[in-house]
Amino acid sequence: MHTIAMISRKGGTGKSTLAIGLAVAAMEAGHSICLLEADPLGTVSNWRRRRTLAGPMVETAHDGYVLFHRVQALAHCGITLTIVDTAGGWSDACRGAMAAADFCLIPARPSPVDIEATAPTLAAVRESGKPFAFVLNQIQARSGRLNGGAGSLGERAIALEIADVLALPAIVQRNDQQDALSRGLGVTEYAPRGKSANEIRALWQWVWARLSCVSQPDAEAPARTYATLPAAVPPAGAQLRLCATGAATGHAGSIAPAG
Ligand SMILES: Nc1ncnc2c1ncn2[C@@H]1O[C@H](COP(=O)(O)OP(=O)(O)O)[C@@H](O)[C@H]1O
Ligand SMILES: [Mg+2]
Repeated sequence: MHTIAMISRKGGTGKSTLAIGLAVAAMEAGHSICLLEADPLGTVSNWRRRRTLAGPMVETAHDGYVLFHRVQALAHCGITLTIVDTAGGWSDACRGAMAAADFCLIPARPSPVDIEATAPTLAAVRESGKPFAFVLNQIQARSGRLNGGAGSLGERAIALEIADVLALPAIVQRNDQQDALSRGLGVTEYAPRGKSANEIRALWQWVWARLSCVSQPDAEAPARTYATLPAAVPPAGAQLRLCATGAATGHAGSIAPAG
């Protein structure tokens, strides 16, 4: 079983939206999914209540230790992928999610200010030693920043030295994403031929390719220890020390927190 943690200390970046979208896309690709909700706001649980279609399994765990051990147990229940949706801020549950994860996905809106605001999240993920990637979400479809040229998204990513740890594609801001969730659907179910559905499917394929590079945890192996995770909360004022190292596999290490 693989486990993805959606992590971002900043709220409203799209953790829940992308967790649900990816979960449904992965389910459509044949995976047996558990969406594990660690956010007391209950976005995923509320979505599941509105949903009339079968799957994915949704569970909640707000305690890091419980969450960590639940993920270990899910590996023995026929689940092939668990996606943990965490809350903004920093919590014990975030720590548990990172401990359990094979891969951390950090959604961020595409402005330099928003990307810089990921510094504390990045510091924690990096300390955990887990592979990670940013996914740019809620980008403007016709801003011109997707294409080359001055001010393009690619140029900004290069300027911020995160181009090597960017999941692809970036996800455009569209009503389909919101309308799908309000109907208890994944965007690939709501408008299967739509642009948002295509983006989420492609993002799932990108994530799956990275997960496949991460060694498959052995369900019979002794449980990884929750205690190995960083206990300290990175300071809110942590800044990025940008040091591109060409981490093409998305492994932690290409961006480091300063100090
Ligand atoms: N790609 C997108 N297009 C349109 N709306 C989006 C998109 N991603 C997120 N949103 C909206 O942004 C808001 C915050 O998203 P959410 O997934 O709840 O963020 P988080 O879980 O990080 O707090 C929600 O209203 C959601 O519908
Ligand atoms: Mg959320």
